[in-house]
Amino acid sequence: MVDSKRVVKVALLGCGTVGGGVIRLLKENAAELATRIGAPVVVKRVLVRDAKKQRVPECEPGWITTDPEVVFGDSEIDLFVEVMGGENPAKSYVERALSLKKGVVSANKFMLARHGKALLAQAARAGVDLAFEASVGGGIPVIRTLREGLTSERILSIHGILNGTCNYILTRMRVEGLPFAEVLKDAQRLGYAEAEPSLDVDGHDATQKLVVLSMLAFGAQVDDKKVHVEGIRDIDELDFQFAERFGFTIKHLAIGVERGAKLELRAHAAMVPRSSVLANINGVLNGVFIRGAALGPCLLMGPGAGAMPTAVSVVADIVDVARASLEGTPGLSTRAIQPKPRELLDMTEVESRYYLRFDVNDEPGVLAVIAKALAEQSVSVEQLVQQGRGGTGATVPVVIITHQCREGSVLKAFEEVRKYKFMSVPPRLIRIEDV
Ligand code: NAP
Ligand code: HSE
Repeated sequence: MVDSKRVVKVALLGCGTVGGGVIRLLKENAAELATRIGAPVVVKRVLVRDAKKQRVPECEPGWITTDPEVVFGDSEIDLFVEVMGGENPAKSYVERALSLKKGVVSANKFMLARHGKALLAQAARAGVDLAFEASVGGGIPVIRTLREGLTSERILSIHGILNGTCNYILTRMRVEGLPFAEVLKDAQRLGYAEAEPSLDVDGHDATQKLVVLSMLAFGAQVDDKKVHVEGIRDIDELDFQFAERFGFTIKHLAIGVERGAKLELRAHAAMVPRSSVLANINGVLNGVFIRGAALGPCLLMGPGAGAMPTAVSVVADIVDVARASLEGTPGLSTRAIQPKPRELLDMTEVESRYYLRFDVNDEPGVLAVIAKALAEQSVSVEQLVQQGRGGTGATVPVVIITHQCREGSVLKAFEEVRKYKFMSVPPRLIRIEDV
């Protein structure tokens, strides 16, 4: 039953792409949300940097302030929604909201990856909730799935397309042959990219999301700066052509695998077979492929970025946090998340198949050097292609697909090959993930 005398009053910290979507969704679905919460939910304050900036039409000018004291000094606020992003002041605002014993909803994976454990502990001490569904996978309910649906399960691995911007760029580069910089501009215009887009294209956003998922999937507290990360800037037309030729497609993946006492975490571009469940998740869609010990495989997919899909996750958290508070059970879901430090597997110990590309001068003996260097490290070759014929000063790509081997062995072979003068750029390596 809806108690119209009780109203849930919300303050938004930030009103950009996501905040605007949240305000719209709260208005569009007001009646249904009131029924689901048991009381109407209204926005009362909106904190921004620039009071003059144009907002979504549903945002009332009277809500807007640039003064955090106006927001935190308003004792009527029941719940804070942090959608400003970045580490600070977002973290200090969330700490302040928790210290006021108010529930918090956040979409901020950067803050959660760096300070999730401490903020969760603060929320637990305060007896309130800190909910963060929108921090990973945009509109996909992956946090809820891990926290609730799979709470009975031991997760063995996660392979995720977790960055919508990267997936959008890689898809359009492959399908339309467009240059990286042009597609990135479109991703920014569409509201997919972070305020600082290098977080997306250099792989840090996906890494931070992987760290957040690891808290739930593996109960792990991990320093995101220690996770191996690569972006997509180096992927070029030739890599797409070879991927096609060998039956792969290129995706940016965030990967977490239980390895006994250690945890394997990494985020980088990868070749996946065209038959893979992740191969056809294109554009801004994200996909999370989870393997559980008892469940087996489970795939979630949906829009990973954008105003309205992300607002769906934020508002779902508002409903949960408000309902728990109204029913007198705040903080229950949050207290269940208790990540512990875990040691990470060194990248040299990672095992994979590899796509190796050597851009070499076309001269006799080059293939023999490369083959010998790989053989000496017991790296077995599955396929080898040399494409084209180098003219004066031109290089030709020698591409090798390896069998499963240790990354450390490939890197040692690279060191050996680099001693020769036939190659002026470092060899490149793209891991092949048979998901
Ligand atoms: P955005 O469009 O850049 O909006 C950020 C908002 O925060 C703006 O309204 C900005 O104010 C405000 N803000 C920033 N710093 C502030 C400060 N120091 N004091 C007061 N206000 C401040 O960002 P967004 O795309 O909505 O992303 C917000 C969060 O959601 C980030 O953590 C992001 O990673 C996450 N997220 C985004 C998406 C997506 O698709 N965009 C999806 C999932 C999660 P002004 O408007 O006045 O500049
Ligand atoms: N910039 C992020 C992305 C937003 O492209 O995936 C969603 O978290």
